[in-house]
Amino acid sequence: MNIAVTGCYGQLGTEMQKIAAQETGHQWFFTDIDTLDICNEKAVEHFFNEHQIDCCVNCAAYTAVDKAEDEPQLATLVNTFAPKVLAKTCLKHNALLIHISTDYVFGGDADKPYLEDDPINPKSVYGGTKADGEHVIRDSGCNYCIVRTAWLYSSVGKNFVKTMLSLADTHDSINVVCDQKGTPTWAGDLAIAIMSLINHYGTNPVHEVFHFTNEGITTWYDFAVAAIEIAGKTCKVNPITTDQYPTKANRPAYSVLDKSKIKQTLGIEIPFWKDSLAKCIDELKNK
Ligand SMILES: NC(=O)c1ccc[n+]([C@@H]2O[C@H](COP(=O)([O-])OP(=O)(O)OC[C@H]3O[C@@H](n4cnc5c(N)ncnc54)[C@H](OP(=O)(O)O)[C@@H]3O)[C@@H](O)[C@H]2O)c1
Repeated sequence: MNIAVTGCYGQLGTEMQKIAAQETGHQWFFTDIDTLDICNEKAVEHFFNEHQIDCCVNCAAYTAVDKAEDEPQLATLVNTFAPKVLAKTCLKHNALLIHISTDYVFGGDADKPYLEDDPINPKSVYGGTKADGEHVIRDSGCNYCIVRTAWLYSSVGKNFVKTMLSLADTHDSINVVCDQKGTPTWAGDLAIAIMSLINHYGTNPVHEVFHFTNEGITTWYDFAVAAIEIAGKTCKVNPITTDQYPTKANRPAYSVLDKSKIKQTLGIEIPFWKDSLAKCIDELKNK
């Protein structure tokens, strides 16, 4: 297949590049905003034509959750309008669109892991633009897999793990929110799952939503403690409540995703979050 990956400099896009190096049976085309602005409909159409794209993995997004509260138009452009452009182009070219969405489409008031069909109720501008992005893809008629993930981190870019480790280097103690529950996702594991979806569906018809995170349930507090411990640092972590750490955007108190569907569909096992965290921290140490 001829596979386009958008947002290839981001956390997930970088991991897709690593996977592609092993998946040599496909032709890969990696793009980011400097080579293909996914908001530019003409450029997207030209790109699909030129490279005869069979599958597009959309790793591009506006991901600044708090900043989105002040920049709703830009967030909407990248997270809702651009997926519409990609879906329309995929439909025209009979290509599979793998689109990444987020746990932040949910309201966060559940007491058991969210299923793919549970009602969504985003509480932030970012979550709203990603939810709308899902809608436009579902309405487009193209072949798609929407993969919702959560708490994504990797050894590149800005993320919670890297922030905690760098704070640990400069502080004796830090405060981290302990009343939001979810599951971290190492971008390397998500990239492997995406590759399995591509190989599973190929160019066959598909219209599915999946959930993918690592296994387990934790809080941002326990996530920070684990990262600092695994990295062998000594900073003390104090648990605080969401009220004590106000942010511009509302975040779901509970955003654990049920992953049964993707596990059954692909016959995969998913690593426990702490094991993958250790792999990522190893990677960071060796950088
Ligand atoms: N990060 C998380 O915790 C998290 C959690 C749940 C779901 N997700 C979803 O997972 C996916 C991957 O996230 P990520 O963390 O890998 O994102 P990321 O690191 O922020 O990477 C996104 C990439 O897309 C690029 N981009 C932005 N606008 C673009 C445009 N118009 N055209 C082409 N490229 C553009 C960005 O460039 P610039 O850096 O120059 O803007 C960046 O290189 C996203 O759909 C995100 O919503 C993320």
